[in-house]
Amino acid sequence: MSAKIISGTETAKVIREELQQEVAELKDKHNIVPGLVTILVGEDPASQSYVTAKNKTAKALGIYSEQITLSADTSEQELIDLVKKCNYDDKINGILVQLPLPKHINETNVLYAIDPDKDVDGFHPVNVGKMVVGEQCFLPCTPHGILELLTRSGVETSGAEVVVVGRSNIVGKPIANLMLQKRDAGNSTVTICHTRTKDMALHTKRADIIIAAVGVPKMITADMVKDGVVIIDVGVNRIGMTDAGKAILAGDVDFEAVKEKAAAITPVPGGVGPMTITMLMKNTIQAAKQAAGLV
Ligand code: GUN
Repeated sequence: MSAKIISGTETAKVIREELQQEVAELKDKHNIVPGLVTILVGEDPASQSYVTAKNKTAKALGIYSEQITLSADTSEQELIDLVKKCNYDDKINGILVQLPLPKHINETNVLYAIDPDKDVDGFHPVNVGKMVVGEQCFLPCTPHGILELLTRSGVETSGAEVVVVGRSNIVGKPIANLMLQKRDAGNSTVTICHTRTKDMALHTKRADIIIAAVGVPKMITADMVKDGVVIIDVGVNRIGMTDAGKAILAGDVDFEAVKEKAAAITPVPGGVGPMTITMLMKNTIQAAKQAAGLV
């Protein structure tokens, strides 16, 4: 059996068309243009390419976007002052500070400075708390994208054994929480594995759905999964460079081998990545509507 490929690129395209339409209507009917600012500190090439993609997508949808790049030696206070300025800028509905930040900056202090109503990443504790109790809030973009991918590709999650590999605040913890909730793409029985898990394969082998978000290339191998599993691969690992200087990427899952056993699998690139960016756009539009009192 060779797995169905769950294309994030295709799904994201469909959602982006819906969002583009929504942005056009907001402009026509209410004279509202959603606004996003991305803030990058330093010159990490992967982060640079992510924020560039986010701004490019925003512009393509008709969202106003500002891309601010600060030098790696920017102080925590300077960054917090910039965030606070954006909190009061009426053109801006969504603020995204690209992570990770340089070591001398405390991430928590910066994320807490973002107005929760502009926290389109869903990382502020107000939004994290609302998410956990199942209230309306900005969902973090990667988990949100995974839920959309599962729903739109018709994967049954109710009662499914879901194994999340990785316990980050950005992916592992929130996706585990969301999938156990009584909601679409939820109602699952969820296990979280991490670096201290004694026997990872014991868990992954009985999973109906595996969500891999560890940042270790090809860590999930074919012998660790059962026939018919659904694989969501969040890993984006740079494993080399082409002669033309383009990064060669691999996921956290050994795609070539695992696709022969899986029922469905997301590729890297072209899987979860495009969905993350699309959900950022969705959240920014939602923030603009909330700011205007439309929802
Ligand atoms: N770094 C990796 N993923 C993300 C994300 O979803 N948001 C932000 N702000 N930084 C990230």
